[in-house]
Amino acid sequence: MSIETAFEFIETESQYQEFQERLEQLKGQRGNQMPALQEVQRIYGYLPIEVLKRVSIELSIPLEELYSTATFYSQFSFVPKGEYTISVCMGTACYVKGAGDILDSYATELNINPGETTADRKFTLESCRCIGACGLAPVLTVNEEVFGRLTKKKADKVLVTFQKRE
Ligand code: FES
Repeated sequence: MSIETAFEFIETESQYQEFQERLEQLKGQRGNQMPALQEVQRIYGYLPIEVLKRVSIELSIPLEELYSTATFYSQFSFVPKGEYTISVCMGTACYVKGAGDILDSYATELNINPGETTADRKFTLESCRCIGACGLAPVLTVNEEVFGRLTKKKADKVLVTFQKRE
């Protein structure tokens, strides 16, 4: 089993403190595995192996068990997400209106595949199913913002806007 990632693990003092406090509260509680994983995901934005090892030791849960639970639920991720998550809708309405081309062009521009995060952790690129805005197809979201009726030119503009954001 290997869940090491290419990303350097960075932990702030406040993340460490907050998580240690939660860990103390969870010690000895029944059914503490899911809450512990949820706290790791909430505080760190993903499940760093370094933190999972601490959970395993402190809560006496085998690492393999934590890993197996985490892989079962889509709410957990083993890689950090970028500051901006771009999700290109690949539902039927968006797909027939060229969403695939937009996804391809973003992948080329960001030099990552869908499902990956750029090395500077600024962008995560994903495809998703219908988000219920078919009237605006093709559609993409950047975090909570929705961009619709995209042309290649409009989609390029959206990406440039976020690339320029600090
Ligand atoms: S198919 Fe894209 S919003 Fe419905």
